[in-house]
Amino acid sequence: MADTYLNLVNTGITKEIAKKLGLPRPSVLRRFDPSKPLVPGPVLLLGNGESVTTLSETMLAWNLDVRRHATPGQKLGAIVIAWDTLTAPGELSETALAVGSALKDLLPGGRVVTVSRPATDSDAPETAAVRQSVDGFVRSVAHEMRGGSTANGILLGEAADAGSTGLIATLRFLLSGRSAYVSGQFIEVSNDAGELPTDWNKPLDGKVAVVTGAARGIGAAIAKVLQRDGAQLIVVDVPQAGEQLAKVANKLHGTALQLDITAQDAGKRILEHALSRYGRLDIVVHNAGITRDKLLANMDEAKWNSVLAVNIESQLRMNRELLDSGKFGHNGRIVSLASTSGIAGNRGQSNYAASKAGVMGMVRATAPAIGSLGGSINAVAPGFIETDMTAKIPFLTRQLARRVSSLQQGGLPLDVAETVSFLASDAAAGVNGEVVRVCGQNMVGA
Ligand code: NAI
Repeated sequence: MADTYLNLVNTGITKEIAKKLGLPRPSVLRRFDPSKPLVPGPVLLLGNGESVTTLSETMLAWNLDVRRHATPGQKLGAIVIAWDTLTAPGELSETALAVGSALKDLLPGGRVVTVSRPATDSDAPETAAVRQSVDGFVRSVAHEMRGGSTANGILLGEAADAGSTGLIATLRFLLSGRSAYVSGQFIEVSNDAGELPTDWNKPLDGKVAVVTGAARGIGAAIAKVLQRDGAQLIVVDVPQAGEQLAKVANKLHGTALQLDITAQDAGKRILEHALSRYGRLDIVVHNAGITRDKLLANMDEAKWNSVLAVNIESQLRMNRELLDSGKFGHNGRIVSLASTSGIAGNRGQSNYAASKAGVMGMVRATAPAIGSLGGSINAVAPGFIETDMTAKIPFLTRQLARRVSSLQQGGLPLDVAETVSFLASDAAAGVNGEVVRVCGQNMVGA
């Protein structure tokens, strides 16, 4: 459902009225457009981490105008901060304050991206402190951003350096319009054997992808974006949604597979379909999901069991079948839909939140096995997304749910789809076992 308020506060006289009354003024987000530059202006590269030279070279290769010093009044498209060699909190101030001065010059839809290392138990206390400080810094800056700008961080995991493919791919994702609704988040990358695409606008060229629950909503948007990015599509949904599913498949020149994913042999049937039609299967997106909301005191067995069966048990079974088959896994990508409800919990959703938290547990525990085959598994946790599901929420609650994020608006199915496509790409091999929130830095579970 369209967010009428967002349109009103961005046009004509209503824009002025909203300004005078001090009402929230969400901005129209900068979304991916291959005809537009990667970022809307020069990139200020701050910090003195080891990664600084590689980051500079990487961004110059993308034809970005990279500056090492700010010029007052010079508008900026992004600020990138190399903080990967910090050893004590005192080292933060100079760069943090320089970011503060430069923020005033950040263009609408601008980006702040830090590159740092995660705090670990084996760090010296000073080092662990400053590494964790970056977390608090980025999440706070994200709350302060205006004009639809975002702030996110990349964590260089063990043995990863600035030359890691995962870092390059994640940096590009976070700078681009693909990450429009991702803010206040960290994505950890490892040293990996991922491959950069020959064409950044077709990162899934030659891949075969399956998306479950693709007859409508977020699933249909994911299928569309994966196809736009070069993949051939198999779309799956229950037989009752067969007509709608066929329309999606036809539009994308893909194939439809009517299948209830709770079937015991769902994984096998998906694999058979993919191998017989396309000779391969590279990407599996577990998107199908249901809600059966009730306060726990009123919850019955059917509501509890059906949500767990669709949202988590089916995924566990399909993953097992796929990985045991020996025909999926080498460079294979699995992306599962979680939810911010699974992170923060939600009244009336104990069954749904349990299932979505389960997805995150499954992803973390499956990552080492699929990673050893060169594949990856990650989860995307959407916040409030404008779909048929959220259109049913009562008007006032819906308005409130939209505004309680740093970007002060709901996301679009497209925003979730862009993150799924990034995680499904070869270049993102080093992102494994992560949960990426697509929630506009929603206060829920922030
Ligand atoms: P939706 O209800 O519009 O679409 C879900 C699709 O899954 C439907 O086409 C449905 O027929 C299909 N499906 C349901 N059970 C199935 C089964 N057993 N086998 C095969 N297909 C089945 O939902 P929406 O909003 O597009 O959500 C997609 C995913 O995103 C879900 O996993 C949902 O939990 C998650 N999500 C959605 C959010 C939102 O704001 N809309 C927020 C957070 C997570």
